Amino acid sequence: MRGIAVEELTIGMCLSKDIYNDLGNIILAQGTEITSKHLEYFNKHAIFYVYIDEEVEEIPAMRLTTNEKFRDLNTNYAVVLDRFKKTYFQIQNKDFKFDAAVLEEDMRPLVDTLLSDNDVLGSMRLLSFKENYNFTHAVNVSMLGAMLGKWLGLDRSMIYSIALAGLLHDIGKIQVPQDLLFKTGKLTDVEMEKVRAHARLGYDLLKENTSIPRDVLAAVLFHHERNDGSGYPSGLRDEQIPYLARIIGVVDVFDALTSDRIYKASVSSFRAFNILKDESFKGLDPTISDVFMSNIASFFINNKVRLSDGRIGEVVYVNKFALNRPLVKVDETFIDLSSDYSLEIEEVITY
Ligand SMILES: [Fe+2]
Repeated sequence: MRGIAVEELTIGMCLSKDIYNDLGNIILAQGTEITSKHLEYFNKHAIFYVYIDEEVEEIPAMRLTTNEKFRDLNTNYAVVLDRFKKTYFQIQNKDFKFDAAVLEEDMRPLVDTLLSDNDVLGSMRLLSFKENYNFTHAVNVSMLGAMLGKWLGLDRSMIYSIALAGLLHDIGKIQVPQDLLFKTGKLTDVEMEKVRAHARLGYDLLKENTSIPRDVLAAVLFHHERNDGSGYPSGLRDEQIPYLARIIGVVDVFDALTSDRIYKASVSSFRAFNILKDESFKGLDPTISDVFMSNIASFFINNKVRLSDGRIGEVVYVNKFALNRPLVKVDETFIDLSSDYSLEIEEVITY
C-alpha cells in the first residue's frame, strides 16, 4: 500500500483504504477500482491524496478514446455473439463436438477489452444488439463474470474460464420447452421442474466434450446451487458449491434482473441490489456478491437517477454498508437513502 497524489492516479488502480467525507461517511470503499468518473469526482470534491495497492497492472488500453472503445467493444461483442449462436445451433442439432478452445479464443478479445476498461455497465449500455434473450443473457453473464473475476483478483486464465462458463451456463435450456422459458404467468410445479432441469441437461449435453475444462462444466451443472442448500440440482451447501458456479450464480441473478425480457420489464440496478442482497442471505455467496455490488455501485457516482416520488437527482456517495441506498442530491438537498426508507431509486437515467 502507498499514498499517491490524485493527479498521479491512473484508471484501473485499486484503493487500498476507504475514502471518507467530512461527516465520516465512506465515499469510496477499499478495493474500488479507479475509473474516469472517480478522477472527476476527486477533482470536484477537493480530494488530493489516496492510498492504492502497490501492485498495479499498467493498462495502456485505457488511453483509448470513447469511440475507439465503442468500436472495439462492438466488434468483439458481435464476434462472440456470432460464435456462440453457431455453437448453440450446433448443439441444438445434436452435434456436441465443438471445440471449446475456439469458443474461448473468439471470446478473449472481448474479455481483454472489458478488463482494460472496468466500466462494464457503461460499456454494456453502449451495446444495442436486438437478439434473443437466450443469446444476449449468455454473453452478458460472460462479460459480467469476467469483470467480477478481475475484481476478485483472479488470474487471467481463470477469468477466461469464467467467461466460457458464462456463455455455456444455460445451454441446457435448448432442451426445455421454449414457451415455458418465456411464460408470463406463474409456472406450475411440473413446469418449474422442467425449467430447473436445464442445469442437469446442460451438463449432460457437454460432459462428453473433452475440450471443455472440468471447472467450467461444474459451473454449468451447479450455477443454481445456493449456500443454504435451497438450490438445485443437488442441494449443495457453501464450500461444496464449486467457486466458478458461485461466481456465475451472482452475475446470473443480476443480469436476469436488469435485462428486459418479454414477460417482465427490467428493474433498476439499485433495485437489483436489493434483490441480490436478499438473495445473498438466502444463499448467494456474500463474499462474492459484496465484491460485485461494491464495484458496480461505484459506477453510479455522478449518475442521474429518478426517485420513487418522481424527482430526479444525482448520486453523490455510495455507502459501503448500504450499497443499494446511496446519498442522492436533488437540487440543493441531500437525501440519504440509507436512512430515509420512504424513497427508492426507480431508475438510473442514461442518455
Ligand atoms: Fe440457469
